[in-house]
Amino acid sequence: MTWTVAQALRVGTDRLRAVTETPRLEAEILLAHVTGLGRTVLLAHPERALGPEERKEYERLLACRATGYPLPYLTGRVEFYGLEFRVTPDVLIPRPETEVLVDRALTFRPHTVIDVGTGSGCIAIALAVHLPEARFWATDLSFAALRVAQENAHRHAVANRICFLQADLLSPLTGPVDLVVSNPPYVAEEEWISLPVSVRHEPALALKGGENGLGVIWRLLAEAPRLLRSGGTLLVEIGATQGERVRALAQDLIPGARISLLPDLAGHDRVLEVVL
Ligand SMILES: C[S@@+](CC[C@H](N)C(=O)[O-])C[C@H]1O[C@@H](n2cnc3c(N)ncnc32)[C@H](O)[C@@H]1O
Repeated sequence: MTWTVAQALRVGTDRLRAVTETPRLEAEILLAHVTGLGRTVLLAHPERALGPEERKEYERLLACRATGYPLPYLTGRVEFYGLEFRVTPDVLIPRPETEVLVDRALTFRPHTVIDVGTGSGCIAIALAVHLPEARFWATDLSFAALRVAQENAHRHAVANRICFLQADLLSPLTGPVDLVVSNPPYVAEEEWISLPVSVRHEPALALKGGENGLGVIWRLLAEAPRLLRSGGTLLVEIGATQGERVRALAQDLIPGARISLLPDLAGHDRVLEVVL
């Protein structure tokens, strides 16, 4: 039997109800992806018939999504800071709360920036788009992630100003730079088990921060001052409950620095700021 767009959206909404609070929207996004039509076009033509291949592919994606597999990995894209990024299962799906880090970084108008653990490249690329004079170094342990980041940098025409490096944190870099930014892995071992199914499809390397979640942050705080000019800034995304522990770590490791915690839109501690 042939499905119309209206039928396909009804079926899709029903199948996704158990895994998302926005089943209708996600059904529209998947159908738009499969047909190559914009959502507004689809909605304007509810009577359009799906071809057999379109229906087969749409049903395949619905079945996948219904297991909890993340929507952005199915469509291969996500929006971050008003820009579209390609994502694959090799990279963390950029989160809205990371936009707080980008907002804050832009206030410093840096000329030289290091992004540690760049993943899809979303932080470095969003900054590069808004800071046309600045130069960037972006590291990641994952070569597969760096390939995605490089592709995103080309897509946004900033690849000539970002040097991508496969590296452990800041190891090969010498500095000094104006700003070091990072959204490091910060999930604690015991939290990992209670994460939603969809998150467990993302790379463990992007999420796990060791026993108490602070392992990578600790190393970053220990290493970053060597790379920063005097008066330079370190901005690190942290977990919602890690604020006071991370502040204490920073006070220990970087005595004399100006240290503050910045909230996300939900009011949770989200970014550690250290000014040397
Ligand atoms: C939380 S994800 C952040 C990705 C991206 N910056 C974002 O905000 O969406 C952390 C990233 O750090 C990388 N990573 C983990 N340990 C690392 C290390 N020791 N050195 C460099 N990168 C690392 C992971 O591969 C992953 O891409």
